[in-house]
Amino acid sequence: MKKVLLFFSVLAIVASSCQSNSYEDLALSQIAIVPQPQSIETTENGTMVISSGLTIVAVKEEELKIANYLKDYFAEINWTVKVKEDAPSSNFISIQQKSIGSDNIEAYVLSISQKGIQIEAANGKGLFYAVQSLIQMLPLDGEAVKLPVMKIKDEPRFAYRGMHLDVARHFFPVEFVKKYLDMMAFYKMNNFHWHLTEDQGWRIEIKKYPKLTEVGSVRKETMVEKNFNPYVGDGIPHGGFYTQEEVKEIVAYAMERQINVIPEIEMPGHSLAALAAYPELGCTPGPFEVGTIWGVNKNIYCPSEETFTFLENVLSEVVELFPGQYIHIGGDEAPKDRWKESAVAQAVIKREGLKDEFELQSYFIRRIEKFLISKGKKLIGWDEILEGGLAPEATVMSWRGEAGGIEAAEQGHDVIMTPNSVAYFDHYQAGPEGEPLAIGGFTTLQDVYDYEPIPEELSKENQKHVLGAQANVWTEYMKTTDYVEYMVFPRMLALSETVWSQPEVKDWARFQEKLNWQMQLLDARNVNYHKSN
Ligand code: ACM
Repeated sequence: MKKVLLFFSVLAIVASSCQSNSYEDLALSQIAIVPQPQSIETTENGTMVISSGLTIVAVKEEELKIANYLKDYFAEINWTVKVKEDAPSSNFISIQQKSIGSDNIEAYVLSISQKGIQIEAANGKGLFYAVQSLIQMLPLDGEAVKLPVMKIKDEPRFAYRGMHLDVARHFFPVEFVKKYLDMMAFYKMNNFHWHLTEDQGWRIEIKKYPKLTEVGSVRKETMVEKNFNPYVGDGIPHGGFYTQEEVKEIVAYAMERQINVIPEIEMPGHSLAALAAYPELGCTPGPFEVGTIWGVNKNIYCPSEETFTFLENVLSEVVELFPGQYIHIGGDEAPKDRWKESAVAQAVIKREGLKDEFELQSYFIRRIEKFLISKGKKLIGWDEILEGGLAPEATVMSWRGEAGGIEAAEQGHDVIMTPNSVAYFDHYQAGPEGEPLAIGGFTTLQDVYDYEPIPEELSKENQKHVLGAQANVWTEYMKTTDYVEYMVFPRMLALSETVWSQPEVKDWARFQEKLNWQMQLLDARNVNYHKSN
């Protein structure tokens, strides 16, 4: 960890302001936790000192897990820590799994008295989030710190708080995915949507179909900037994939951080890399090449029995690797040209009594949903899966604005809001002059902060179908991990308040002030970010 002087910590200001009459106001306004907790009470004046040599009190299994996580954290700032069953008279963090009178399974209470710190939650999730709040208040330089006496009671507004990462347009190593998960956890985000397959690369090992990675994980080159026409390629092969062992490692790492991983296996479109490996899955003979150009490709899976067998075999391996309930099957941007021309596709339309190719896509997705349900999983798809009729239990990710989400919620389906107007972190956040090349769009930090995931149009009854929101990080133009971080931060911090904090406690001006401290935390974690917001 990079050293940052405690002088700059807003907490130092809080601590030194204890003598002043305005202590409570300062304490409330200057604690720089993101996302903003539900309530912060300063019940009495005073401070506690926490320093190296502290004791962590933990007994139960969940408590010990959190104690070990904290111990690893303190090792990074060179603090020594003892884990014990009983609290000493000072300098301790007591972790207690117990009922705290909230129905929210992610709720926690963090109390700081003059003697020590008490963390309470009904389960490991709440305990974990209490720790995230705590470590956002701790020094970065290994020095002792004074914390104000206070009580934080907190719980999230939304159960689904997502970040997506496209590792197909550009491949990113396991270590970076772990760093991304660390940062998600730090801001209490709890669903990682891992976009694993695309026209331009297949990134997950499937044992039954080795060519998916042998052939499908490498493209011969990448289009230079936006040179679509005339096309200019860079001549540099790009590839990479995650072995199943690596996938397991990432899923376990995420679980330790209370993050569920949702794999996305795209179908029927965005499947050119799979067709390059197994051309018999297309409606035309091919040959196909792993994509080198961005956009939407007309070559998609043909709805043949061979394709369904293939996809079911792929998904059978995928469901074993991901313990969460959701599997994302894409469903977006699937042009129907090939199906219109294909005798195989037309025969399915006729056999199933379907009206057109949109109903054929619906048939495709319903079939896959049935299969996933038989495996105990739930299907998520982009909002195109509404076209031709929604699969009976599908959850919809609304990306082309909110209309798809509203329609799905009105049909009684669960919805995750990820509208491209505010939740696409591949859009410019400033400039565009002076900014690195982005796909387009313009989404400022404040746009993300001000986003309200529940559309006004929805009735009270249907509002409950909005599980939360997610930002998408499509990486066509993000060639490096530094660039991904630059596009994600600090916008992810804004999103975290949008999905965690109740509207009454959100405050744009305070959020901007908190960024001064948060940027030091990002520096300490070697995270690149956009600075001029
Ligand atoms: C998407 O951005 N095509 C979901």
